[in-house]
Amino acid sequence: MDSIIVRGGHRLSGTVATSGSKNAALPILFASLLADGEHRFDNVPYLRDIDSTQQLLASLGAESRREGDTLVVNTRAPGAHVADYETVRKMRASILCLGPLLARYGEARVSLPGGCAIGSRPIDLHIETMRRLGAEITSDGGYVTARAQRLHGANILFEKVTVGGTENALMAASLAHGTTVIENAAKEPEVVDLARYLQAMGAKISGAGTSVITIEGVDSLQPASHRVVPDRIEAGTLLLAGAITGGQVTVENCIPVHLQAMIDKMRDAGFRIDTGETSITVQGNDGWKAVDIATAPYPGFPTDLQAQFMALMTQAKGTAVVTEHIFENRFMHVQELVRLGADITPMTQVAVVRGKRGKLDGAPVMATDLRASACLVLAGLVADGETHISRIYHLDRGYEHLERKLAGLGADIERAH
Ligand code: UD1
Repeated sequence: MDSIIVRGGHRLSGTVATSGSKNAALPILFASLLADGEHRFDNVPYLRDIDSTQQLLASLGAESRREGDTLVVNTRAPGAHVADYETVRKMRASILCLGPLLARYGEARVSLPGGCAIGSRPIDLHIETMRRLGAEITSDGGYVTARAQRLHGANILFEKVTVGGTENALMAASLAHGTTVIENAAKEPEVVDLARYLQAMGAKISGAGTSVITIEGVDSLQPASHRVVPDRIEAGTLLLAGAITGGQVTVENCIPVHLQAMIDKMRDAGFRIDTGETSITVQGNDGWKAVDIATAPYPGFPTDLQAQFMALMTQAKGTAVVTEHIFENRFMHVQELVRLGADITPMTQVAVVRGKRGKLDGAPVMATDLRASACLVLAGLVADGETHISRIYHLDRGYEHLERKLAGLGADIERAH
């Protein structure tokens, strides 16, 4: 099994480009099931989660092929309606095929998901959404089955902001009969990107990016082309990598406003951050101060950058309080950071990080989920000696060649097979 070896102590410098967003690409690829024909997607990252999505699409009758960063998906073959356990267990986002399959074929049978082991991550809001749109739901043998001859528009008020739930609602409602209004909708850029692609297919959607989205259902959609939005989480991780080494790094091909919450916190900590139209530069800094963060739905501080920001705070002057509001049990990286010598006290939703610059020591550590893996890589960049990170299949689910990008900025990092 692959692992990553980082030898710390090198200041990063230079320019690096962000890849396309994983979390935007996944729902968009599933949304292609809504219209028969050939769809073209540009800026699709090379990731394990994209491979898993292609496999799942193939099992549903939609073949896809790569042309560099472009992925061409052909949904012409009438497919099966079953997302089986083998595929779904690798990637929790497989639940995103529920809405498209149900809306397009009147039936979807989806295994209960696996994916990151961060908290219980239920799918009740997805199920309830389909029920409100008129589906009959049953469950047996670890599968949930949804059936409806034709979905109908509905008012959907999410009790909790859910990115995937909002996306499933958008996709299903696009082909429903009548109008759907989603309240307390997720405002994430990935939701907006999905809405843009659905609009390109002919969907009638307004309000994406706000907390109320209205969808006028249409009878059919047409295949379309779409360029996937840059990955804000990857961009944020690369900036934090530059920052933690005291280096100067420019991240290109990103959308600075998508990272505003993190940029504000980095400025509060004392970093100089300059933004261009599609780039962000962090300037070297020899001592930064601790700042508290609390994760929240967009435009708040992203939960997917919490672990990486915590790595930065292990090197700050003072004590930072990190509060996780989105997922329970998303502090599994804390134990591993402590193995490297960090001083962190985790509680249920809060971790207290006492910064101590230059006091991490390389050690063998284990990646526990996708963003935790990135956090350990960042810590390894400043730890003395060698940090050996195992189980990096988590990292490969969501970062395109992270080690190559960091090596290009001057990090001493390699993949061991
Ligand atoms: C997406 C992202 C993930 C990110 C998360 C929050 C993808 C593929 N993944 O995940 O990287 O960390 O948004 O920004 O885009 N919940 C329920 N019931 C449900 C659904 C969700 O209780 O049916 C809860 C979750 O357990 C969590 C909260 O709602 O506590 C938010 O989850 P959600 O926004 O749905 O996350 P995902 O879409 O799974």
